[in-house]
Order: sequence, then structure tokens, then C-alpha cells
Amino acid sequence: MCGIVGYIGARRAEDVLLDGLRRLEYRGYDSAGKATVQGEAIHVVKTPGKVVHLTEALARTPAPGSVGIAHTRWATHGEPNQANAHPHLDCRGELAIVHNGIIENYDRLKRGLIERGHAFRSDTDTEVVAHLIEEYAAKLPLEEAFLAALRDVVGTFGIAVVSRREPRKLYAARRGSPLVVGVGVNGEYFLGSDPAALIPYTRDVVYLGDDEAVVLTDEGMETFSFDRTRIQKQREQINWTVDEIERGRFPHFMLKEMTEQPSVIVNSTRGRLDVDNGLAKLGGLKDVDDRLRKIERLSLVACGSAYLAAMVGEYMLEEYAEIPTETELGSEYRYRKPILDPGREAVIAVSQSGETADTLGALREAKEKGALTLGIVNAVGSTITRETDAGVYLHAGPEIAVASTKGFVGQLSVFALLTVLLGRQRRMSQATGSRIAAELAALPAKIERILAQSDRIKALAKKYANAQSMLYLGRKYNAPVALEGALKLKEIAYIHAEGYAAGEMKHGPIALLDPSFPVLAIATKDSIYEKVKSNLEEAKARRAPVIALTNEGNDELVRIADDVIFVPRTIEMLAPILNVIPLQLFAYHMAVARGYDPDKPRNLAKSVTVE
Ligand code: F6R
Repeated sequence: MCGIVGYIGARRAEDVLLDGLRRLEYRGYDSAGKATVQGEAIHVVKTPGKVVHLTEALARTPAPGSVGIAHTRWATHGEPNQANAHPHLDCRGELAIVHNGIIENYDRLKRGLIERGHAFRSDTDTEVVAHLIEEYAAKLPLEEAFLAALRDVVGTFGIAVVSRREPRKLYAARRGSPLVVGVGVNGEYFLGSDPAALIPYTRDVVYLGDDEAVVLTDEGMETFSFDRTRIQKQREQINWTVDEIERGRFPHFMLKEMTEQPSVIVNSTRGRLDVDNGLAKLGGLKDVDDRLRKIERLSLVACGSAYLAAMVGEYMLEEYAEIPTETELGSEYRYRKPILDPGREAVIAVSQSGETADTLGALREAKEKGALTLGIVNAVGSTITRETDAGVYLHAGPEIAVASTKGFVGQLSVFALLTVLLGRQRRMSQATGSRIAAELAALPAKIERILAQSDRIKALAKKYANAQSMLYLGRKYNAPVALEGALKLKEIAYIHAEGYAAGEMKHGPIALLDPSFPVLAIATKDSIYEKVKSNLEEAKARRAPVIALTNEGNDELVRIADDVIFVPRTIEMLAPILNVIPLQLFAYHMAVARGYDPDKPRNLAKSVTVE
């Protein structure tokens, strides 16, 4: 989704801004632009398309200045063309603004501004803020005008502003859309909607909270609320390395991130597993331990792949921790007036980015109703981590590819830990706890064995690359995995794919099957294997090509299926962690075989910070 970068210091702003934009490319966008200020002049350059086009345009007309803002836009209001790209200017070109989020009352504000003589150059909601500030700035100092404009705005924003009236100042503010300030050496400051933009320059950061604004100058930074009350902010340290956000020897981030999955299990379980005593220790939940023991119901709120990971979590928590659990889409939960039992219910927001607007909305709904709120999040310091009562980090490292892979596996690993923790607080035996813990610890080596099959799966992808549609089947723990496999294929290979709980096939989707409609069935040896095997036979009887995913040593499916992918065995509740990996690899190789860039699927954004 949209990205913001800002800089004030002694370097050439353009270099820092372009570098930052490149680091935010993974978030998905369709145009880019920048504004730098020097003395009395603002230099704005914007281009539709990729950052490389902006770079080319800037090479033709380099702009001076060591203060500036830049943006990658993911269109919400208005086409992705040059006029709609950010930054936007006020009527007189005094100030330039970049914005992430949505101004919900822009229509009404725009009508008023036009009546009062303002001329608009774009179809965006953002431009109204530039004109609003302009209007206030006719009577007030710029800082006050900036805050006054923000008070008029309804919606979400991460905003940054530079002005030729105050050429050595950079203003920024947030409501619902992340912004982080990087504190450099020698009095320079960086601004980013994502710490990835700042990491090569500094690890020292200050996360802006909602309804907080900051002014960055050569003299320092000041943070305050929109009514100008000063706020003291804590500096924090980012602990990722530049290597972690660079692609290295891999052709795509997605492949790199899939390859990292053995270490995702190692890192997400490090210091948290006690195999001998069958326990899980989650430091992030220590402070709410007493409340957790009283929990009688859990609601898991999430979107997309995180929602599917939560569905697997629901199976784990109900079967092993014996806590009634519901998984809910963030986008539905927040509006459907959920009935909560505050003293006895915990609501867990599951999110790789920790910034997804719908998940955050659901979390706020739960908070308002008094539930204990927890987070299962990857991005350290993200909004969800700051708004929950307590939580567990995935420690999966930054996920750059738009399609979630290691984030999903990290979420499953944390759900397994949480299941052991809550289960052992209740009726789970030490033996069961030890078995789950030992199996979790054995997963990295098993994942390596699956990753080693990448070339075989690539060959399979070549065979099926022309499919128009596919059906993914799985049951019990693997039903959500089938949905995740289908989601991955849709997202990056642009093939229509349906994910179904296998038992449902006969209630409808079987009508679709014919020789042109491949079926991928997850049929690993578990309590429901025979049933899935029957579904697979039913698909074959309709002459659909069948790819079966089963366990090493189970050769009986070779007779039925056209192709078989073998994975190592583990216990049923952990099987999704292994089974999803060939599906990720398959989608990845399908995308590449069809000539698409799996890291930057069309129309998608990495972190969906708007509704
Ligand atoms: C799928 C994918 C999305 C995200 C969803 C939630 O590959 O990446 O479906 O899972 O947008 O994102 P987070 O986990 O950041 O809340």
C-alpha cells in the first residue's frame, strides 16, 4: 500500500528519498513522486508506474535540496496517473503534501474549498488537505494551520508536508496509518511509513502514535497532539539488519522468504519451548497470565492469510486447549456488533504487519467492549502491538514479498505455542505438551526436505501453468491450508482457484470438474485421510487431473493421482506447517512460469492500511 519517505539533514534529499521509495516498493503501488525544498523553491516530480520511472525523470531534471518528502501511491481515489500521484500542492505551490490513508469527508471539504476559490489539479482525496492547510495558513503560522487542517479531517492518514515558507521544516502526523521517525547522527531525521525505508541510515526510531504530529527541524524534533499539547516520546531500537530486507542471491523475495521458513520455526520457538516439561513460555503474555487462566472463550480476528492461519489456530486451541474459539474476519467483526463476555473472553488480533486496518478496527471494537486483547504479530512496534494488552511476536524477520509465506508459517508456530501454554494451564497432560513441543522442534529439518523439492514442484508448475482454474481440497486442520493454497495461486499466478473443505466438494464445486479443471488435494495421513482419499477418487472419476499431497512412504495415491507431492510426517495439528510449503512453492513457480513477478502482484498491497 502507499509509502511515505521524508528527510531533513545535510545530504542530498533526493538520494535518500529514492532509496527509501525503493525499499518500500514491496508494499505495492502504481505511481511515485517527490518534493524537495531549497530556499524559495519546491521541486516536484511525479510519474505513473514504478520508482524506476521516477528515478529516470529525476536523472533528467535533478533537484537540489536537503529537505524533502516522497511517496508511492496505491490508488484509492482517482486513476493511477501523473496528476493523481503525490505530492500534491496548494493553489500557490507553497506547500507539498504526501498522504497514506483515506480522507472520508473529502467530498464535502472539496466542495467548500472550490466554492471559496481553490483550484484542484487531481481527483484525489489528499489534495483537499493541501488546500485546507493553505486556507488556514493565510491567517495562522504554518504549524497551527497544519494542525487545524488535521482537526477538520475525518478518516485515516499518515501525512508529511514541506513548505517553501519554512524551508527547513518537515511536518508529519498520523491517525491510523503508520509513521516512524528515524533519528540519524549529526541532527538529521528520516521519516517513513515503514521502518524498512530508514534502516540503512539509523536504527534509532520514534513511532508516532495516533493523533500525534511531529515537526522535524535542524534543531531537533518536537512531538505533540493535534491540540498542540507536547508529547514526550520514547526512542526505540530496530533490531533487523539491512541483509534481512535485501534479496541477496534469490531471484525474488518470495523465494527467499519461503527458504527462510526453517529458521522461522527456530526463531519463533527459541527460548519458548520446554520439551521435557511439556511447556511453552511466552514472555509477552506473562503480565496477563492470571487473566488468561480465567478465559473461557477466544475470538481470533484477522484478514487474508492471517485469517486462514487463525482458522488452523482455532482447530488447535479447541482440540488441545479445549477453549471454545471462533475465527472472524476483521472486516466483518468490526461492524457486526459482536457479543463479548469481557471477563471471560480474549480477542486475539493476528497480523503479520500489525497495521491491517480491518484487523485493527476489530481489535478496537473488542477493546471498547472490555475484552482482554492480545496480538500475534510479526512487525515489531506496529500499531496492533501497541494497542493490545499483551502479545506474542513471530520473530520471522521482515516479510517483503506481498504474498505472505513465512508470516503464515510463523503464525501457525505461535498458535502451536499458545495452544501448549493455554492447554497446560487447563487439562493438557505433560506428555501431550512434550509431544507437541518435540514435534515443533523437529519441524525445521522437515521443512528443509520439502524445500529441497523446489525443482520438482517447478516442473509440476510448468505442466499445469495453463490451467484456467483449480480446486484445492483439504479437511480438518488442512481445510484452511487448502484455502491458503488457492489464495496464493490467485494472488500471484492470477489463476482462478477455489479452496474448499474437501467434504463440501460434493455439495457444489464437483459440478465444475472436468479434464481441464485440476484438483490439488491435501491427503496427508491423519484422522481424516480415508475421507479425503474418497474425495480424490470422486474428482478422478470426473476425469479432473489430480495432484495429491501426501506423506513420504504412502504410495497408494500414486495409483489414483496424476501427480504426487510427498512431505514428511508430523502430528496432525502441526501438519499445516509442512503442507502449506509445497502449495506456496507451487504458486510461486506457477507465477514465474506464467511470466509474472510474484513479489509484486497487480492490484495488491503488502499492508492494507485502508478499509
Ligand atoms: C496473502 C496476504 C494477505 C494478508 C492480509 C493480512 O498472501 O498477504 O491476505 O495476509 O492482507 O495482512 P496482515 O497479516 O499484515 O494483517
